[in-house]
Amino acid sequence: MTLRGHALPASVLVAACIAACAGASGTPPSLRAVGPGELRTPADFAGIEDREERSRAMFTEATRVIFHPRCINCHPNGDSPTQRDNLEKHDPPVFRGPSDHGVVGLECTSCHQDTNLELARVPGAPKWALAPLKMAWQGRSAHDVCEQIKDKDRNDNKSLEQIVDHMTNDPLVAWGWNPGHGRTPAPATQKEFGALIAAWVESGAACPLEEKK
Ligand code: HEC
Ligand code: HEC
Repeated sequence: MTLRGHALPASVLVAACIAACAGASGTPPSLRAVGPGELRTPADFAGIEDREERSRAMFTEATRVIFHPRCINCHPNGDSPTQRDNLEKHDPPVFRGPSDHGVVGLECTSCHQDTNLELARVPGAPKWALAPLKMAWQGRSAHDVCEQIKDKDRNDNKSLEQIVDHMTNDPLVAWGWNPGHGRTPAPATQKEFGALIAAWVESGAACPLEEKK
């Protein structure tokens, strides 16, 4: 199964991720079984002796968060965000504009505030904006997203330590676990996700191998 396939509709991509990321493929069969709302911890990977293989396996586990709709809805490979669990088109139509904050008169923050607005169903977190196109994750493989995240030309010049900090503490990332209004949160907690990313970096930040087309 592949997460690539640009021709696939978004709903198929999400289904592919849920299957692949839940351990149907990509993770060694010996790993502890976990539910969709849980994340394996670094200790679960201690049995993989080869350091690089262990590192790759931890990133693959982290993609259960990274490819979660709460994250990729805002990291699209195009000019508009998507929404809900099957990556529907954002309603009303909105566009990234010149600086990813929307267009004049219809900025993201005209609707999205610093916190979720429960009555109006509008999700919110500080600095709400679309991830820049160079950080697009929708339709990309785990390998490609991993390389993108490590690439200072495409990650806002962040060191690996800063990536760990961003994943663990950034308030916009944090929204993924507090999405409001009955939306499915990303698995586990931001702290546990941060610990997994930190362990991935400590083990050499290896990327999953590119899947054969
Ligand atoms: C006119 C108001 C409005 C504007 C402007 C707007 N949004 Fe939204 N947005 C909404 C509403 C309302 C929802 C909730 C839809 C729902 O789930 O029913 C939403 C949902 C979203 C979601 C989906 C959350 C999820 O995971 O389901 C993302 C991502 C998002 N908006 C990003 C943006 C970005 C980025 C911009 C600026 C480029 C923007 N929005 C501009 C009103 C707006
Ligand atoms: C409301 C939109 C939005 C949501 C939701 C969102 N992001 Fe982002 N993301 C951004 C923006 C904007 C940037 C660039 C500015 C910045 O770094 O804060 C970004 C940048 C990043 C970066 C910087 C490094 C890089 O090269 O990609 C990481 C890592 C990241 N996001 C992780 C996540 C994770 C994990 C989630 C889900 C738990 C998530 N994001 C959800 C908008 C979003």
